Amino acid sequence: TRNGIDFAVADMSLHEFGRKEIRLAEHEMPGLMAFRREYSGVYPLKGARISGSLHMTVQTAVLIETLVDLGAEVRWASCNIFSTQDHAAAAVVVGRHGTEEEPKGVPVFAWKGETLPEYWWTCEQMLTWPGGKGPNMILDDGGDATLLVHKGVQYEAAGVVPAAEDNDSDEYKIVLDTLRNSLAADGKKWTTIAEGIRGVTEETTTGVMRLYQLAAAGELLFPAINVNDAVTKSKFDNRYGIRHSLIDGINRGTDVLIGGKVAVVCGYGDVGKGSAESLRGQGARVIVTEIDPICALQAAMDGYQVAKLETVLPIADIVITTTGNKDVVTVEHMSQMKHQAILGNVGHFDNELDMAGLQRYPGIRRNNIKPQVDEWIFPTGRTIIVLSEGRLMNLGNATGHPSFVMSNSFSNQVIAQIELFTKHEEYDNEVFRLPKVLDEKVARIHLEALGGELTKLTKEQAEYIDVDVEGPFKADHYRY
Ligand code: NAI
Repeated sequence: TRNGIDFAVADMSLHEFGRKEIRLAEHEMPGLMAFRREYSGVYPLKGARISGSLHMTVQTAVLIETLVDLGAEVRWASCNIFSTQDHAAAAVVVGRHGTEEEPKGVPVFAWKGETLPEYWWTCEQMLTWPGGKGPNMILDDGGDATLLVHKGVQYEAAGVVPAAEDNDSDEYKIVLDTLRNSLAADGKKWTTIAEGIRGVTEETTTGVMRLYQLAAAGELLFPAINVNDAVTKSKFDNRYGIRHSLIDGINRGTDVLIGGKVAVVCGYGDVGKGSAESLRGQGARVIVTEIDPICALQAAMDGYQVAKLETVLPIADIVITTTGNKDVVTVEHMSQMKHQAILGNVGHFDNELDMAGLQRYPGIRRNNIKPQVDEWIFPTGRTIIVLSEGRLMNLGNATGHPSFVMSNSFSNQVIAQIELFTKHEEYDNEVFRLPKVLDEKVARIHLEALGGELTKLTKEQAEYIDVDVEGPFKADHYRY
């Protein structure tokens, strides 16, 4: 704690560098800056206490400071052990008017290279407000903050945290330990926190899937807004963001020439489409694997070979998973990959790759090349290069998506936070999406920033296609 702010970051002396990059990012985040201007002096988030769990990057710093400018108090943690940019974390703690000795910013609990117990500690710190107040809003990416609150409430009601089961992951065992400790210290901690929460806004496909599962089981404890499925989020961040940051991660991690190589992309959803395009852009021959015939046909129409992973492993130089599913690349697959083939995952969790199986493989050895790059040596002598230990390698090996595309995503986050904070009584404990007019508003701001000229409908044209001159321009079922 310094100047009344509790925090845990790697190195506070990095704050000036962080501030410089935040300043450059602000120019590239016109959506967030437009909200700062629009709500100047209005403070729609006054009284909001937002606990945020989202990659602590430079772009997220601009989001955090926008939420603060709109009146919110904020506490933050990263949603991935490798995704924090330490200079951004330090700058957010110091704030725009503070110093290293006298920080005036936001409590941040995040550093690059957390262990899993440290990760869940930061998650708990971010949700634990001083003075016994809890958060009244959650801003989540992947659903870990929401999970901790929901599991905490469940086990407090039962009065006991169950013992881990054999098939629970090592990570889930840490979650159970975290909750066991908090139950011993305060039998009502999570129940009290949950009662104060007006809602959660969720950033990504995987977190949204978890929310719909909770809602379907009737277990969701507060309303949720699915930010991911705003068109200006998933059709831009997931796709064009990864088109930038996937190859950035491969380059920084391995510096291997991508041109001429065979790259397999598992999954052809939004992230898969952007991944395939970025690899093709570098001159790779891209092959796609899919389980869904519609997405598989799209891949074929886009000119990619569609194949099963097993079929193409013998020729694959690079394998990237983008599915949000588990066990997509098994240890058997890994053992059949080419010598020094590169394996990386950009789906939200590391269980897309069977990392646990790899660690247990008889006779396997691990040779760390540098942070977030490991060579795994099979008994045959053949090796594979695994990026970021199977976790989001575009954030672990590089710096994630660039500012401009994150401005789209985070503009939707800001809108969703204002909506649930100010109108939570109007929402049941279900999962909602933002109205299309707001999506179009976000797109309009970013189009203008790029110098794009939008054609305006005449009244007659608008009537003819049955829309309003000012929009929304599409029906909700339109797919873009
Ligand atoms: P999506 O649902 O659009 O795409 C996933 C695709 O994978 C689907 O088409 C599905 O049919 C396919 N799939 C599922 N199981 C498969 C399997 N066993 N083999 C081959 N294909 C399979 O989801 P989206 O939006 O593309 O997100 C994918 C993942 O990426 C999620 O975990 C999401 O949270 C994460 N994400 C990561 C980002 C990053 O910066 N790395 C950014 C945005 C999302």
